[in-house]
Amino acid sequence: MRKKKVLIVDDEKLIRWSLRQKLSEWNLEALEAENGKSALCLAKEEMPDLVMLDVKLPDKKGTDLLKEFKKNWPDLPIIMITAFGVIDDAVTAMRRGAYDFIAKPIDYTKLQSTIKNALETASLKEEIAYYKEKEKKAFNMSQVVVSSEAMQQVLEMVKKIAQSEASIILMLGESGTGKDLLAQAIHHLSRRKNASYVVINCSAIPENLLESELFGYEKGAFTDAKQQKKGLIELADEGTLFLDEISTLNLHLQAKILRFLETHTFKRVGGLKDIEVDLRVIAATNQDLEVASQDGKFRKDLFYRLNVCPVYIPPLRERKEDIIPLAQYFIHHYNQKFRKNINDLQKEVKRLFLKYEWPGNARELKNAVERAMIFEEDPLISPKYLPIHLNRKSSIFLKRSSDVFSDGNLSLPEFEKKLLIIAMKKAKGNKTQAAMLLQITRDTLRYKIKKFKIKPEDFIFSA
Ligand SMILES: Nc1ncnc2c1ncn2[C@@H]1O[C@H](COP(=O)(O)OP(=O)(O)OP(=O)(O)O)[C@@H](O)[C@H]1O
Ligand SMILES: [Mg+2]
Repeated sequence: MRKKKVLIVDDEKLIRWSLRQKLSEWNLEALEAENGKSALCLAKEEMPDLVMLDVKLPDKKGTDLLKEFKKNWPDLPIIMITAFGVIDDAVTAMRRGAYDFIAKPIDYTKLQSTIKNALETASLKEEIAYYKEKEKKAFNMSQVVVSSEAMQQVLEMVKKIAQSEASIILMLGESGTGKDLLAQAIHHLSRRKNASYVVINCSAIPENLLESELFGYEKGAFTDAKQQKKGLIELADEGTLFLDEISTLNLHLQAKILRFLETHTFKRVGGLKDIEVDLRVIAATNQDLEVASQDGKFRKDLFYRLNVCPVYIPPLRERKEDIIPLAQYFIHHYNQKFRKNINDLQKEVKRLFLKYEWPGNARELKNAVERAMIFEEDPLISPKYLPIHLNRKSSIFLKRSSDVFSDGNLSLPEFEKKLLIIAMKKAKGNKTQAAMLLQITRDTLRYKIKKFKIKPEDFIFSA
């Protein structure tokens, strides 16, 4: 743990020196300032954990400096050093938010316990603030939209499973159907909700690191293992471990996970001791594990073990009643994020949304709403900002195509150049937005702008 820093503000060199000696005995780091001005500068630079402030300073009154400290860092504990018997200063100091005061000559035993208490109170405050913040961000069931009969059934099942003692749950469904979201819901509806929810995406971590990420390692297990390290399984003890994209685990790790699921114990890499944990595992995949197990890519026994309690989320196209409520939920979400005031979708957009197949499911819908909301200026989302494949007829580019052809017979490159200019105009010169409109990357856009020698005046000055 890092040493806590104590800033000593006193103009007497000797006092600073002796305090420094004491602080280092108590395993604290000392910073020194001889006047108010340098104290404030040093505090800004070093962010001390505690300040000891003499009431008498050459450039300003200690109690005034105290006020400034409190204004800048309200939670920073400050201990005032007062001359013996000067009660007035002490009273003012306490009123202005000092943690405590200590009289000269300093009683070091008393000082030590005052500092200890002050630091403990401060870190407790910090911890409470941290948990409050975390709570604010906590999961809320209103984040899950369930309108269709099918999703209501899924949710019923999720609630039952969450409150059961089932220790292994398998989330199934195409990409973007909400497996992550419902896994979080399960954790937050379970008795484990106050313990950790640990997520590991098996496909995102290189194979050689995944094992030690999951199981941890002992000191000396391999060259870089200078210290023992706990794995995610150990960190999730008492809580929930979400193993995303489980189908991508290699056969070696599949065997290790299976053993863990069966015994609730594991060994750290390089370790001999069995460690027991009590946690719930939620695994997720958008692959057909049964097929994978027939192909020899996934262990059959692991598949059976995981498949005891499956939750299947149907694709969005099979529960069309969810499409509009989901879109409206996403509008609400992005209104807050983008500080916008969009009310709903135009009728035509609703029609297009209901007709579309949504191969990327809720995620694709969310992205489509996000993109439209970036550009939409009216209270209702109109079809013109929808992705092209959703809306062939009225996309802004193709709508303008009549203008393009009215210019005479344009070649394909000329058409492309026109399209780039239209997008840049629409995005008011913002390349990221223009690239989004064109559904190409920003790099591609930049490349094309260079290729066609498009200049700022092409899209800024023309109507
Ligand atoms: N029923 C729902 N209500 C609200 N938001 C949803 C719902 N279903 C999905 N979403 C949102 O859609 C996005 C995709 O969902 P999620 O990440 O849970 O999908 P997934 O099934 O885990 O996809 P993948 O297989 O690609 O990992 C997320 O932003 C999620 O919040
Ligand atoms: Mg996911």
